[in-house]
Amino acid sequence: MAIQNRKIILRSRPEGEAGLDNFELLTEPLPPAGPEQVLIRHHYLSLDPYMRRRMDLKKNYAPPHPVGEVMLGGTVGEVLESRHPDFPPGTFVVGRGGWQEYSIVPAADASQDLRKVDADKVPLSYHLGALGMPGLTAWVGLEKICQPRSGETLVVSAASGAVGSAVIALAKSMQVRVVGIAGGPEKCNYAVTALGCDTCVDYKQYSDTASLTEALRAQCPAGVDSLFENVGGYVMDSVMSQMNAFGRIAVCGMISGYDGEPAPMRDPSAILWSRLRVEGFIVGENKALWDVGFAKLRELVVAGRLRPRESISTGIESAPEAFLGMLRGKNLGKQLVKLA
Ligand SMILES: NC(=O)c1ccc[n+]([C@@H]2O[C@H](COP(=O)([O-])OP(=O)(O)OC[C@H]3O[C@@H](n4cnc5c(N)ncnc54)[C@H](OP(=O)(O)O)[C@@H]3O)[C@@H](O)[C@H]2O)c1
Repeated sequence: MAIQNRKIILRSRPEGEAGLDNFELLTEPLPPAGPEQVLIRHHYLSLDPYMRRRMDLKKNYAPPHPVGEVMLGGTVGEVLESRHPDFPPGTFVVGRGGWQEYSIVPAADASQDLRKVDADKVPLSYHLGALGMPGLTAWVGLEKICQPRSGETLVVSAASGAVGSAVIALAKSMQVRVVGIAGGPEKCNYAVTALGCDTCVDYKQYSDTASLTEALRAQCPAGVDSLFENVGGYVMDSVMSQMNAFGRIAVCGMISGYDGEPAPMRDPSAILWSRLRVEGFIVGENKALWDVGFAKLRELVVAGRLRPRESISTGIESAPEAFLGMLRGKNLGKQLVKLA
């Protein structure tokens, strides 16, 4: 009997904030795998901020996600059926399976980014977080743009998240002073005690640029040499005004403006006065840096210096709510959905 696959499609584009009614759960029978294809049972689905932007028609580095199609997303799972010799049944793989319980993909197609992973050495879910795309994002932004030197001060926003936690662990391994910014005492406590962040500012205690700037200044007496920016808006404004001359800003994400109106930048003149280098980047466009990044991240995880936290919801039907919660900061660490 055919396997019944449950999946979540994008039912409609959000107007303003996204809501549960923008998604729809469908069930359909799966066909058998065709020539060169593999059938994968997903164990975990990754929920990531970029998905929100892809739900809109706004300018982006990739096209808008089509309405009516299964939501896009990274997955890790086990090959159940195979018609490709490199991926026999039982192989664990990371891929782009989307918001569904199973996927059938052409294994040799490079656009699928199908990659074998260990299922025994670290928890399988880590391949979607610390040892996956978010961890590599941290590595690429640091290596390519922040380029922190020993003794310098680096600030990272969304510090307790999937990317932020890897930024802290990697930057600490480079003997850099790291100041985190995160929402709430639990997140700040995790950044400091579990990840080794030197100090962490709870931005939710400060509702405007002036008060957050003051709080940050107290933690950055020698100014800020590099910023790993995940949030944008007044959080970024508060750090920009304290950048040292020739500082570097890796613009990784601007999550405060994804779900509705974009967050404005208050005073870009800091780029001139402090002669800043400000550069956006996309992890998938920097694959030449991945191998070294994987090795560094694995070393830190094995040594217990990168201790990833995860927020895990259960069942594909839980994905929309977990996703919207992550956009509003309800997650601590990598947001995942457990599917098997
Ligand atoms: N450039 C790339 O290739 C690339 C790749 C992956 C991710 N990213 C970006 O990296 C950033 C972090 O992604 P992630 O996967 O690690 O997510 P995450 O940090 O695990 O989760 C998102 C976090 O963003 C924070 N946040 C949400 N709305 C906010 C707001 N209005 N103001 C301040 N903070 C807010 C929340 O933490 P708090 O409770 O601390 O506010 C929330 O927990 C995102 O901007 C994402 O788009 C970029």
